[in-house]
Amino acid sequence: MTYDVTVIGSGPGGYVAAIRCAQLGLKTAIIERYSVLGGTCLNVGCIPSKALLDSSEHYHNAHTNFATHGIELKDLKVNMPQMVKRKNEVVLDNNKGVEFLMKKNKIDVYYGHGSFVNKNRIRITTPSGNNEEIETGKVIIATGSKPIVPANFNYDKKRVITSTEALNIEKVPESMVVIGGGVIGLELGSVYARLGTKVTIVEYLDRIIAGMDADCSRELTRSLKKLGIEFQLRHAVTEVTPSRSKVKVVAKSRDDESRTLSWEADYCLVAIGRRPYTDGLGLESVGIAPDEKGRIPVNDHLETAVPGIYAIGDVVRGAMLAHKAEEEGVFVAETIAGQKPHIHYHLIPGVVYTWPEVSGVGYTEEELKEKGVPYKPGKFPFRALGRARASMDLDGMVKVLAHKETDEILGVHIVGARAADLIAEAVALMEFRASAEDAARMSHAHPTFAEAFKEACLSATANRAIQL
Ligand code: FAD
Ligand code: NAI
Repeated sequence: MTYDVTVIGSGPGGYVAAIRCAQLGLKTAIIERYSVLGGTCLNVGCIPSKALLDSSEHYHNAHTNFATHGIELKDLKVNMPQMVKRKNEVVLDNNKGVEFLMKKNKIDVYYGHGSFVNKNRIRITTPSGNNEEIETGKVIIATGSKPIVPANFNYDKKRVITSTEALNIEKVPESMVVIGGGVIGLELGSVYARLGTKVTIVEYLDRIIAGMDADCSRELTRSLKKLGIEFQLRHAVTEVTPSRSKVKVVAKSRDDESRTLSWEADYCLVAIGRRPYTDGLGLESVGIAPDEKGRIPVNDHLETAVPGIYAIGDVVRGAMLAHKAEEEGVFVAETIAGQKPHIHYHLIPGVVYTWPEVSGVGYTEEELKEKGVPYKPGKFPFRALGRARASMDLDGMVKVLAHKETDEILGVHIVGARAADLIAEAVALMEFRASAEDAARMSHAHPTFAEAFKEACLSATANRAIQL
C-alpha cells in the first residue's frame, strides 16, 4: 500500500495527527505496536489514573466527609478488584472510541511494531513475527515515552513498580514508598493514601512539583500531609531491594551524605520521570540521531533532520503532556497540508489531579523574579468563597501575576477544587493578552469556584477583592 502520511504510534499525538491528516484529504495510515489504540495516555496514563483518582476520592469523601454532610453509611469498604475493573472498562470505552474515529476518518490501522526501512518505506512487524511493508510520502513519529527506572532500583514489576503496575494493584497495600514528588508520584500516591495506604514520598529536590509555582507546592504539601502522606524532601533514593512480599528502600540526605533513611514497604513506586521511546524504530536507517536525553531533535516545524519525517509528543522536546502532543499532532498535519499553524507553547497549562487539584499557566513567580519582570501578585483563598464552604473544599488559593505597569496577566496558579477546569479561563484570557482588570470586570456566576479567579484578578489589579 502507498500512503501520503504514515503515523507511527497511536497515543494522543499520533491518533490526533492521523485524524487531522485525514480531514485534510491525505491518505493516512497509523501503526501501533500494541493490540489497542490510544497510547500511554489512554491505556496506562491520563485516563486510567483519573478513573482511579475519581474512585478513590469518592471513597475518601464517603469515609471522611459524608457524616458531616449528614449522610450515614455502615460497613463502608473498598472493593479493589471492582475499582480496577471499572477503570479497565473506562479504558476499553476510550479504546473503542479511538478505533471508531479511525474508521470514521478512513485511516488504515496496522497493528505491529513500525520501523524505518528508508524514509519512504516502513516495515510493520506483528507480535507473531510477520512482516509487512508500506510506502509513504511523509512520516510522523509519535512513539511516546516509557518510565525511567535505573537498573539498581531492581524493577521486578511486583514489589518495585512503575505507574503502569500501580494502576492494577488488586488489594489495598498497607504501605508504599514513592520515589519522586512529581506529578505521577503525587497523583498515584494520593490514590493509595485515600484508600488507607501509608504513603511516603521521597523527593530529591526542596519541594514537590518543583516545576510549578512555589506557592502551589506549599499549599499542596499542606493538603497532602492532612491526607496522611509523609514527605522526605532533599533525599535521593539510592537502593531499592525487593523480597518476596516487601521492598526495602534506602535514601541519602542531600545535606549530609552519611545520613541515610530506610523504609520497608509493600510496594515501591518509581516515579522519577519518563524517557522518550525510540527502541527498534530504525532511526539509524534514515540518519536520525536522538539527543543526549534520547529525544528526537526537531526544528520549529517539528520536522527532523530528514525532510518529510516529523516527530511529536513525548518523543520530542517540551512538556510530556497529552494536550501538548495533541496540539503538535494538529500542527504537523496542517504543516504537511501546506498551512501555517502555530502553537503557543508558553500557554500550555499544567495540571496535577490530586485533591485539591493544582493547575498553572504562564510564568511562575520565581520565573518573573529571575527575569526581572515587574509584576504584582493577587491572591484569593478558596476558604473565603461561599461555594467552597458549601462543598467543604476549603483548601487552596488562586494566584494571579499581572505586569506591574500594563496589568497584563502573565501567570495564573491555582490550588483548589476544580483547578484543572478553572485554568481554561486563564488560558483563554492570556491567549488574548487580557489585563487583570479585564478579567475582574467580567461577570462570574455566583456561587462558583471561578469567582476565586475574578477575586484574585481584582486583588492583582487594584488590591480590591470584594469577598475578602
Ligand atoms: P504515547 O501516548 O506514549 O503513545 C505512543 C504510542 O506509540 C504507544 O501506544 C506505543 O505503543 C506506540 N509505539 C511506540 N513505538 C512504536 C513503534 N515502533 N511502532 C508502533 N507503535 C509504537 N498527560 C496529561 O496531559 N494529563 C494527564 O492527566 C496525564 N496523566 C498521566 C498519567 C500517567 C500515569 C502517565 C504515565 C502519563 C500521564 N500523562 C498525562 C502524560 C501523557 O500520557 C503523555 O504525555 C502522552 O501520552 C504522550 O502522548 P504521545 O502520543 O506522545 O505518546
Ligand atoms: P516528574 O519529572 O514530574 O517528577 C519526578 C521527580 O522525581 C522529580 O521531582 C525529581 O526531582 C524526583 N527524583 C528523581 N530521581 C530521584 C531519586 N533518585 N530520589 C528521589 N527523587 C528523585 O516525573 P513523573 O512524576 O515520573 O512524571 C513523568 C511525566 O508524566 C511528567 O513529565 C508529566 O508531565 C507526565 N504526567 C503528567 C500528568 C498530568 O498532566 N496530570 C500526570 C502524570 C504524569
